[in-house]
Order: sequence, then structure tokens, then C-alpha cells
Amino acid sequence: MAPCHKVSGITGILCRRFCNKVVLTDHNEEVLKIIKKNIELHSCPENISPTSNGLVAEKLEWGNTDQIHEILQKHPGGFDFVLGADICFQQSNIPLLFDTVRQLLQVNKGRKCKFILAYVSRAKMMDSMIISEAFKFQMQMKEVPKTKCIVGNHEGVIYEITLK
Ligand SMILES: C[S@@+](CC[C@H](N)C(=O)[O-])C[C@H]1O[C@@H](n2cnc3c(N)ncnc32)[C@H](O)[C@@H]1O
Repeated sequence: MAPCHKVSGITGILCRRFCNKVVLTDHNEEVLKIIKKNIELHSCPENISPTSNGLVAEKLEWGNTDQIHEILQKHPGGFDFVLGADICFQQSNIPLLFDTVRQLLQVNKGRKCKFILAYVSRAKMMDSMIISEAFKFQMQMKEVPKTKCIVGNHEGVIYEITLK
């Protein structure tokens, strides 16, 4: 996908207002550069390094076990939330996305961690695929009430997804 976003990482940076630590990921090196730049721009002058403000960027290609393990090694406490904002574009990547999320959530299974998927519907096929993949990966998917909206020309909705 073309790394067109000067705003890449903004969702994660905003989430930092509500979380102690946010790890922003992408598989694309150009996008990662933009994310790191945005983290740097966001950091206060008194922070010695951009990472000391609770925001870090890590390379993650969905399904890449080495990268998933590396992230879990660096963040052994796991994650309370995995957030995906408008990330469902290619059907072939969806099983890898769900597999990755399952591995990240499983670390804290007892804590009922959540995958929040801010989904933008671009193809009917994808709409049904995310539901069937969640089922295959033994995840429970709930539409968050009152989150249906129009995003550009598309319908959007937020799903809350947990491990069964
Ligand atoms: C529309 S952007 C979403 C931007 C992001 N949620 C934000 O708030 O800035 C979709 C992103 O998903 C990433 N992506 C697509 N396929 C991926 C994959 N297989 N593994 C990891 N990231 C992927 C793309 O590189 C792109 O930056």
C-alpha cells in the first residue's frame, strides 16, 4: 500500500492520552518513518528521548512470528487493547491480522483484553470475511452500539473483539 499518510500514527498518538504506553506498528518502512517523525513531533521538549513519552513504533508485518515475538519480548506485560483503525484492505491479509491479534491478546488472556477494530467497509466480501475470521480464531465480535457512521464514501463501524 502506498505510504501516503502524513498523519500516520495519529490514532495511536491520541490513544496515549488514555494509556500509559502505546506501541504503534506498521509493516511499511516509509510509514514507520512517518510514525516515528510524528512521535518525535509530539514529544515534549523535556522528554530526553521520544520513547520516554510512552510512545514507541515497531515494525510488524501481520503473521510474522519473529516480529510478534520480538514485540512481546520488548513488552512482556502484553497489551490491554489492540487497536486497528481502517486497516482492512486486502482479503489475503485478514487471517494474518486475526492470527497476530490472537497472539498479542493471548498473553493477558485472564484480563479480557480487547481488539478494537474501527472498520471501514470497502467491499461486501471483506465485511463477511472479518466476521468469519473472528469466528475461526475463536473470537467474539460485538458491534459497539451507535458507532455506525459514514467515513468518506464508506460505511464505518467499531467492533469490540475478545478471545472466547
Ligand atoms: C489506512 S492506514 C491506517 C492508518 C493508521 N491506523 C493510523 O491511524 O494512522 C492502513 C495501514 O495498514 C498497514 N498495513 C497494511 N497491511 C499490513 C500488514 N500486512 N501488516 C502490517 N501493516 C499493514 C499499511 O501499511 C497502512 O499504513
